[in-house]
Amino acid sequence: MEFRHLGRSGLKVSEISYGNWLTHGSQVEEDAAKQCVQAALDEGITTFDTADVYAATKAEEVLGRALKGVRRESLEIFTKVYWPTGPGQNDRGLSRKHITESINGSLRRLQTDYVDLYQAHRFDYETPLEETLKTFDDLVRQGKVLYVGVSEWNADQIAQALKIADEMGFDRIVSNQPQYSMLWRVIEGEIVPLSEKEGIGQIVWSPIGQGVLTGKYLPGQQPPEGSRATDNSGSAMIARFMNDDVLTRVQELKPIAADLGLSMAQLAVAWVLQNPNVSSAIVGASRPEQVRDNVKAAGVKLDADVLKRIDDVLGPVVERDPAKTQSPSTRP
Ligand SMILES: NC(=O)c1ccc[n+]([C@@H]2O[C@H](COP(=O)([O-])OP(=O)(O)OC[C@H]3O[C@@H](n4cnc5c(N)ncnc54)[C@H](OP(=O)(O)O)[C@@H]3O)[C@@H](O)[C@H]2O)c1
Repeated sequence: MEFRHLGRSGLKVSEISYGNWLTHGSQVEEDAAKQCVQAALDEGITTFDTADVYAATKAEEVLGRALKGVRRESLEIFTKVYWPTGPGQNDRGLSRKHITESINGSLRRLQTDYVDLYQAHRFDYETPLEETLKTFDDLVRQGKVLYVGVSEWNADQIAQALKIADEMGFDRIVSNQPQYSMLWRVIEGEIVPLSEKEGIGQIVWSPIGQGVLTGKYLPGQQPPEGSRATDNSGSAMIARFMNDDVLTRVQELKPIAADLGLSMAQLAVAWVLQNPNVSSAIVGASRPEQVRDNVKAAGVKLDADVLKRIDDVLGPVVERDPAKTQSPSTRP
């Protein structure tokens, strides 16, 4: 495994991390979840990403049990707050009340005294930014959170938060968690340049396009049984990539991966890691062998001509519009 700094902070993270969205407490049984976490640890992954909302809080519980007994100092545990965790008006968003209640629930479920990184899962248009940032800062002072970050905030929102933090002396955001893959490059236009300047690292999600970039979904055919595209919660999430144009072009990436002696998943993960502003690629996995496959992308270098071949194949199906970085206009 290789390690990178989380933005300009002193914290090092494994350049491939493991996330448990849609899998733990949902698509996969607890045994398989534990085997995936064990495979990640065996392969040198030290960074684990979850969220209060995943599987209606069950994902944090599964991860807490799977990591029990592992030396805490050897792990970086990331979680998030924003999406609803209960039926109430205040069980969502980035108010002082919800953040305070949510971190306490996350720490209990994860069976830890602190999380290494606490992330605002989306921007909350219904809470003053000062209130959110002050609350995050308080959690850092209390030792419940070591670093703060955001997820899917646009460049203006990140810039605004940095300005307030600097003016008020609050802890600064060190990371952003955006979707980023060969197919989804919307951060490259505005967020990456700002982040490079401000010392923010990207912890990118769905680097394998939720499995699409493995090439296992064939155009015009039913998805393989047991894959995310056949899962109750997962199928809606992956739907944006499940069209014949995308799937046909992805098949054409196979010779590129083969020429490099890489699996398709490794090529996809290696591709996001070529961007020096990426601190870590969070891979998901429903089976331990997937973790063992994906992790071999660590340290792989791709030449400019390989990157060009990939661009030529994917062509117009690549999404680059910065306006696609969005948070709900009202709380969900
Ligand atoms: N901040 C946010 O808003 C946000 C949103 C989404 C995700 N995330 C984070 O990012 C993490 C990763 O997201 P993701 O799960 O969508 O990432 P991903 O790595 O692009 O996709 C993972 C899925 O692809 C399939 N897969 C992975 N490796 C494979 C391999 N080698 N061969 C065949 N299939 C393979 C598996 O699904 P099947 O086996 O079921 O097909 C696996 O669950 C999440 O767990 C979460 O921590 C954050």
